[in-house]
Amino acid sequence: MAKSASPLASKSIRTSKKQTRNKAQSESPAKYNKYALYEKSVQSPEVDVTWFTTIFRDLRDEEPVSLREDFCGTFKVACNWLTRGPEKTAIGMDLDPEPLDYGMKHHYPKLTADEKKRITLLKQDVLTPPKKKSDVVVVGNFSFYIFQERELLRNYFKTVVSSLSPKGILILEMSGGPGMIEKTKDRRRVSKKGKLEFTYIWDQREFEPIHNRAQYSIHFKFANGKMYKDAFTYDWRLWSIQEVREIMAEAGFSKSVVYWETEHKGEGTGEYAAMEEGDNAYSWISYVVGVK
Ligand SMILES: C[S@@+](CC[C@H](N)C(=O)[O-])C[C@H]1O[C@@H](n2cnc3c(N)ncnc32)[C@H](O)[C@@H]1O
Repeated sequence: MAKSASPLASKSIRTSKKQTRNKAQSESPAKYNKYALYEKSVQSPEVDVTWFTTIFRDLRDEEPVSLREDFCGTFKVACNWLTRGPEKTAIGMDLDPEPLDYGMKHHYPKLTADEKKRITLLKQDVLTPPKKKSDVVVVGNFSFYIFQERELLRNYFKTVVSSLSPKGILILEMSGGPGMIEKTKDRRRVSKKGKLEFTYIWDQREFEPIHNRAQYSIHFKFANGKMYKDAFTYDWRLWSIQEVREIMAEAGFSKSVVYWETEHKGEGTGEYAAMEEGDNAYSWISYVVGVK
């Protein structure tokens, strides 16, 4: 099995999880907007929304209408969702006003007047969900790994179950494997029209095996050699898929489905299918879906 780059890096281009792996002065953070850099490095909302819709169709054999993006940051997924049809509605929830403000400044103005009527943005803890029910709740980029305790994760899942429509599903993007815990830095060049804009650095700083607790940072390095260090830092519990499925069942989901990356000749294809047996990938991304 080929080795993978950092899950965040590989996921962003939605190619394969099976990729090859690979100090400078600190730059003033004020000069760059870390959300713009982050979006360019790790997000692909167009691909994500198509994929989430495919999962819903696969499980429910109909079209989803309402989406809630939990831990939404700059809510790019929610914005993209609105473009998929005049009936689509979206809610974005994040407790940090900073990424929400960035989205309000840079993404919200690009929505049409009609799309603006169909989006609700909430500066709110995901543990306190809105009353409005959603067909799809999505958690991108492993954001629920912020919950360190089983009871807290179960509480979160319970609130999601209660705020899903009767046909609703919860889609969790998960990542793991040895490639996610070793102490390493993965670098990826981000270019525009063939010219290097910056290098995205995924820094796996620490892993503590008793609690499965991992510390990561994202740094950006610019063409002039300067660094924007620790633009984002994460303190995550690396949940296993099995734990998550068990907790989903305890929280009231009727079943869970795992979409695992398919392989061709030992290489990941970038395509995912419902499976009950995964290959022992060095690092992987998977979509674990709780079905109401
Ligand atoms: C890794 S970012 C994810 C951004 C985006 N959803 C993505 O997929 O790239 C995690 C986000 O979760 C937010 N967050 C952390 N804990 C939260 C909570 N309990 N409720 C709501 N948002 C939370 C943070 O403010 C941050 O914007």
